[in-house]
Order: sequence, then structure tokens, then C-alpha cells
Amino acid sequence: MKKLPSILAIVFFLSTLSLIYVFVFKGSVVETSDNRVGIELSQSNADFALKEMRGFLESIQQINERILNKDSEQIYVAARQSGANVVHEAPQGMMASLPIGFKKMGLNVHAKFDEIADSIKANNNFNYAQKELNTLLNSCITCHRTYKIEVRN
Ligand code: HEC
Repeated sequence: MKKLPSILAIVFFLSTLSLIYVFVFKGSVVETSDNRVGIELSQSNADFALKEMRGFLESIQQINERILNKDSEQIYVAARQSGANVVHEAPQGMMASLPIGFKKMGLNVHAKFDEIADSIKANNNFNYAQKELNTLLNSCITCHRTYKIEVRN
């Protein structure tokens, strides 16, 4: 009879592992017609994600304009507003829907905005800010090539 508790422990362990796999690594993904990985999100989570994207685009435009105007203080402001400090605003439950690759790329983009803010403050180097902006744009492109959003009703 001693075996039963250990079997239960193993079953519990394996189901915990599979939950971790689904919620931390796999996310809620589906195949799509254009061969990107579709991420299933509720309407409100999709709205949140796309609003954040539009915020990214605004930051990019502002940083670019302020590089031309050589306005380092305002580059700092525009970059910070898409930095890692906004990650905690993501709605509860949304993180579990996102595959690990998407989460990594998303966090990486927030970190790159922070790098632009930090380096313009430290060095006031507009050429360098433009290089960083270009690297950042390549990250946007990579993610858009890989993933799309599928609203789940
Ligand atoms: C982690 C992945 C990821 C990163 C990084 C990313 N995006 Fe997106 N973005 C998406 C997905 C997925 C969509 C939805 C596209 C679809 O369903 O076809 C999207 C949509 C958008 C949209 C459309 C918004 C709307 O209202 O429909 C804009 C604009 C956008 N992204 C800008 C950016 C910019 C600018 C960057 C870089 C600073 C960026 N994104 C980085 C994944 C990403």
C-alpha cells in the first residue's frame, strides 16, 4: 500500500510539469493561414496588446523626430514611455496565453527602449541613438514575421 502515495506524487508532479509547460512555455497558440504562429487572445487582451503596439509606433516616431531636432531630453521621455516599467500593466491571465518566444521578444523590445533612454541621458549621442533605434525596429520586424493575434470568442 506504500506505493499509492508515491504514484500519486508522481502523477501530481507530472501534471504540475505539464501545467508549467502550457502556461509558461507553450501559451495558447494555433496554426494560421499565412504560416505565422497565431496567439489566441480574448478580445480585451488583444485590444490591450494592439494598443501597446500603437504606443510603440508612437514612441518610435517621436524618438526619430527628436533625433532630427537633437532634443535628448524628449528622446528620453519618448523611449521611457515604452520601457520595461509598463510591463506590469499587462492584464492578468494574458501572460499565460503568450508563448515563451513572444514573451522574450516583447521584454527585449521594452529593454531596448530603456537602453535608448539610458544611453541618450548618459552620452547625448544622437548617432548612437539612431543606431539603437534601427536595431529596435529589426526586433519589431522579427516578431511580426513570426506571430499574429487570433481573437478567441
Ligand atoms: C513580441 C512580438 C512583437 C513585438 C516585439 C512587436 N510587435 Fe507589433 N504586433 C505583434 C503582433 C502579434 C501584432 C498583431 C499582428 C497581426 O495579428 O497580424 C502586432 C501589431 C502591431 C501593430 C498594429 C496595431 C493595431 O492596432 O492593429 C503595430 C502598429 C505594431 N505592432 C507596432 C510595433 C512596433 C513599432 C514594434 C517595435 C517597437 C512592435 N510592434 C514590436 C507582435 C509584436
